[in-house]
Amino acid sequence: DLWPPHALDHPEVGTPPVSSGTGGVTLIIPTFNESANVAELLRQLRDALPAGPPYEVLFVDDSTDDTPAVIEKAAADCPFPVAVLHRDTPSGGLGGAVVEGIARAGSEWIVVMDADLQHPPHLVPELVGEGERTGADLVVASRYLPGGSRAGLAGGYRVAVSRGATWLAKGLFPRALRGISDPMSGFFAVRRSAVAGAVAGEALKPLGYKILLELAVRLRLPLGGAPGRSRTTAEVPFVFQDRFAGESKSTAREGLRFLTHLAALRSASPLARMIGFGLIGLSGFVPNLLALWLLTHAGMQYLVAEVVANQAGVLWNFLLIENLLFRDRRRHRHWADRVGRFALLANADLLLRIPLIALFVDRFGLGVLPATALALVTTFVLRFAATETLVYLP
Ligand code: GDD
Ligand code: MN
Repeated sequence: DLWPPHALDHPEVGTPPVSSGTGGVTLIIPTFNESANVAELLRQLRDALPAGPPYEVLFVDDSTDDTPAVIEKAAADCPFPVAVLHRDTPSGGLGGAVVEGIARAGSEWIVVMDADLQHPPHLVPELVGEGERTGADLVVASRYLPGGSRAGLAGGYRVAVSRGATWLAKGLFPRALRGISDPMSGFFAVRRSAVAGAVAGEALKPLGYKILLELAVRLRLPLGGAPGRSRTTAEVPFVFQDRFAGESKSTAREGLRFLTHLAALRSASPLARMIGFGLIGLSGFVPNLLALWLLTHAGMQYLVAEVVANQAGVLWNFLLIENLLFRDRRRHRHWADRVGRFALLANADLLLRIPLIALFVDRFGLGVLPATALALVTTFVLRFAATETLVYLP
């Protein structure tokens, strides 16, 4: 047997079922309060999955309802092993659940799908078959291929948001997402060999719904990852169905998380991080000037106001840099330590600029404007390097 059946007896315990096999397919299904869907899903999977290669189903569950119990009951009728990994302390949302599932899977292929029947179960063998046929490492079920559609995306608003998100992602990662028409899809098959190393090495930082985006961009799957290995992507069209029961678990907060996820992916390289650092720095003029206006209008002496208002810009920059550029490097120091160091650097920057300009003008004979520009660039690079190493450990 591939799967220790007792794993189902203790769904509340995180005892992971670990499959042994070479070959075969592990279906990973994240669930959050899907008790009205899982029995029907398993019923349809029973009809859809061939007896052929060994299939196993692993639910990664963050529910607060009785979803695990319903799964356990329905699994009794299934000819394939079914297990539930219930997470008592969920992290990373949907994407985090999928990554935990991948870490537990032992099959050659991993298929990720939703539990609400928006992803047609009969396509599961087709996704794997397409991978076997083409040799691709990643097979994406796409709504944007001829034959696919977004039928189940109720309302013009959701269609527009989905379109916009796809364009944004493809615009930010044109190379990494080449060949993937639907990077927002939550339905795909991937060879375990292509992702297992990254999962084991904790190279993935899933943040919310877009786990395919995380895999494709972080692992550069469509580009050909490691030298000498050509990784390819294939796609299969699919019609996004209506939800069988219940409502989408996605919220406005999830939309914000998506933007944060994009920023985290985009700032993975030091150069991109430096550009982000510069842009955030520029945006800091807005709170700085706003605070200056408020303080002087409140009657504060203007030079004192300058100093205080500068801190508003510093705080703004700090919050954006923390959340967008150095998300996963925050844990190395206490937050108060980070604010202190950051503010110190920002103010040192101002103090350093004047003597630097004087040096450029007096010793190197530069004009005042080029000297100022050069000083700005110099202190910017110094400050970025110091932030990288002294505020956030690499
Ligand atoms: N374990 C776990 N933890 N599962 C979750 C969580 C979570 O925090 N949040 C959602 N899920 C599960 C749901 O129970 C469901 O099985 C699946 O993830 C998808 O959630 P839905 O709430 O149904 O998402 P959706 O229909 O709005 O979005 C789906 O389609 C989008 C394409 O339009 C997802 O597949 C998205 O990834 C996809 O972009
Ligand atoms: Mn759904």
